Amino acid sequence: AMSSTPQNTENSFIKKLKASGRSLIVFYGSQTGTGEEFAGRIAKEGTRYRLKGMVADPEEYDMEDLIQMKDLPNSLAVFCLATYGEGDPTDNAMDFYEWLQNGEADLTGLKYAVFGLGNKTYEHYNEVAIYVDKRLEELGATRVVELGLGDDDANIEDDFITWKDMFWPTVCEHFGIEGAGEDVSIRQYKLTEHTDSVPERVYTGEVARLFSFINQRPPFDLKNPYLAPIKVNRELNKGGDRSCMHIEFDIEGSKIRYDVGDHLAIYPQNSSELINRIGELLNVDLDVIFTLTNTDEESSKKHPFPCPCSYRTALTYYIDITSNPRTHILKELAEYASDPKEAEKLKLMASTSAEGKAMYNQWIVQDNRNIVHILEDLPSVKPKVDHLCELLPRLQCRYYSISSSPKVAPSHVHVTAVLVEYDTPTGRRNKGVCTTWLSAKVPKDPEFPTAPIFVRKSQFKLPTRPQTPIIMIGPGTGLAPFRGFIQERHLARQEGKPVGETILYFGCRKKNEDFLYEEELVNYVKEGTLKMYTAFSRDQPEKVYVTHLLQQNLDEVWKIIGEQGGHIYVCGDAKNMAKDVHNIILKVVREKGGMSEADAQAYVKKMEAQKRYSADVWS
Ligand code: FAD
Ligand code: 2AM
Repeated sequence: AMSSTPQNTENSFIKKLKASGRSLIVFYGSQTGTGEEFAGRIAKEGTRYRLKGMVADPEEYDMEDLIQMKDLPNSLAVFCLATYGEGDPTDNAMDFYEWLQNGEADLTGLKYAVFGLGNKTYEHYNEVAIYVDKRLEELGATRVVELGLGDDDANIEDDFITWKDMFWPTVCEHFGIEGAGEDVSIRQYKLTEHTDSVPERVYTGEVARLFSFINQRPPFDLKNPYLAPIKVNRELNKGGDRSCMHIEFDIEGSKIRYDVGDHLAIYPQNSSELINRIGELLNVDLDVIFTLTNTDEESSKKHPFPCPCSYRTALTYYIDITSNPRTHILKELAEYASDPKEAEKLKLMASTSAEGKAMYNQWIVQDNRNIVHILEDLPSVKPKVDHLCELLPRLQCRYYSISSSPKVAPSHVHVTAVLVEYDTPTGRRNKGVCTTWLSAKVPKDPEFPTAPIFVRKSQFKLPTRPQTPIIMIGPGTGLAPFRGFIQERHLARQEGKPVGETILYFGCRKKNEDFLYEEELVNYVKEGTLKMYTAFSRDQPEKVYVTHLLQQNLDEVWKIIGEQGGHIYVCGDAKNMAKDVHNIILKVVREKGGMSEADAQAYVKKMEAQKRYSADVWS
């Protein structure tokens, strides 16, 4: 979307701002919707300060327009940008990021502010926002508000509202705006209920195109997933009370291609139990067909999700009803409370006072309440169901590391997923949306359940030459991509190709319970393809982790990475594991490579840049 047709009205945000009398634009770099949500909240609040705002996806606009922002009086560009993976921008901010990195635009006169969305458990915490904030200044722009950083590992909502509390007064002072307007809540969307005549074109869960699940047309991607039959869904754990599923999706005839290390995205459905509960609590007929239409005609987003559809469809496919609602939602809910005490409680939690924040953190975050729990525990709160649909965030697809190799299973994609289920402090049992939905999708030949999927390419790749030795560190489901790696290297060996050493560090709780794919792995060892180190953390009184084993093998690690130019891979959800591994690698380079701390840092950085050291971690 960069600069191809700069004069085109469609992708000129300057023209849009001018045409609609706005001076505030809030860009987002968002992968899971939070950045977009934050951007929307800032743009909406602008009205209070006579800064009419619009939200913008950098991918949809010509970002060179930033150069002209200065010609627009009292104009401000805000960026809500998430950091992913190894310090990467989100897909939709990629072009913009590269334009900033490589270009030398003169941004003198541009006024801006940046808020970052990151996660402290990752090494490259908020790098994108930090870079953009610095780079805009280098290019001559004026920072109006200090950079804000949100940590999704702690309480990102708290970080955001704390920053926003400082943002508005600073902006007002900068632009000489006096006295905020009233803090009234305005609906962004207008409701139409199609009660008299049912429209012909009603969405039933499609992600974007009507009937896309009936008329399946490649290419399949984020907006157009493929409805794949599930051919296998079996339990991998041999004991214990947890479940890990091995699932095989059939992609025959779909033209979907994948490579080892890629991710499979799955669009899940919310549980009908929760949806019916909402219908009950709000006393509404969920089968009414409705449309929400943006009151802002300039917005490129006409509807918050595909409309018209039924409330049931919206709650099943389009709306996130299980995460902890953010503070602006509580504030809107307060308007619907007939009991003043409940209204007060909601307003307090939505405020930025210390007491309010503490209560939000306890009652919503720690006690882990979702919208259903809130409606149950504050029984006088009866929001209109369409307003709820407008306020709650979009249900997101879930990503899974593909655990097969296309060379071994060209027409199938395998994933390895742990069933998420846990008890909350309020005595409720929460169930993971996607994994719970998948767990019920058990094929009974000839009937195969289906799931909407697409493949997302990743940078997590085997070395181009099979001779290159590799070390893989993957406790728990972190094993997933390595199963594909090993399959591929085993096949190469069978074909008589020279293959470098293939070393796996696998860890789980107990050998007899969650040793995933034990027989396969043991067989690869027997056949001479694999060298495996296993850490069973709970089979003895003291914890043994993959990182402990790695510590004991510093010489071998250095031999592989230092002397043989090998690659090292880390994957998994074990919190802090990736950081621990990183420190061990640094130690190896320092001690076995005989380098200073600084040289070791540089050495590892170079390995990362050359993709000789890659991590694929999630929390
Ligand atoms: P959700 O409904 O999304 O619920 C999960 C949320 O519940 C968590 O985020 C957390 O907030 C909360 N939660 C979970 N457990 C607890 C607890 N004990 N106490 C309190 N709160 C809790 N997963 C795999 O199983 N295998 C993979 O190979 C895999 N690969 C991934 C690759 C990538 C790139 C990414 C980003 C994620 C990957 N994941 C993988 C995670 C996966 O995407 C989902 O997040 C996971 O399956 C949960 O989804 P869900 O919808 O079932 O749960
Ligand atoms: P634990 O749950 O007994 O603490 C897969 O989740 C395995 O990774 C489990 O055996 C888990 O052990 C272990 N694990 C937890 N934290 C880890 C860490 N920081 N480094 C390595 N492994 C870890």
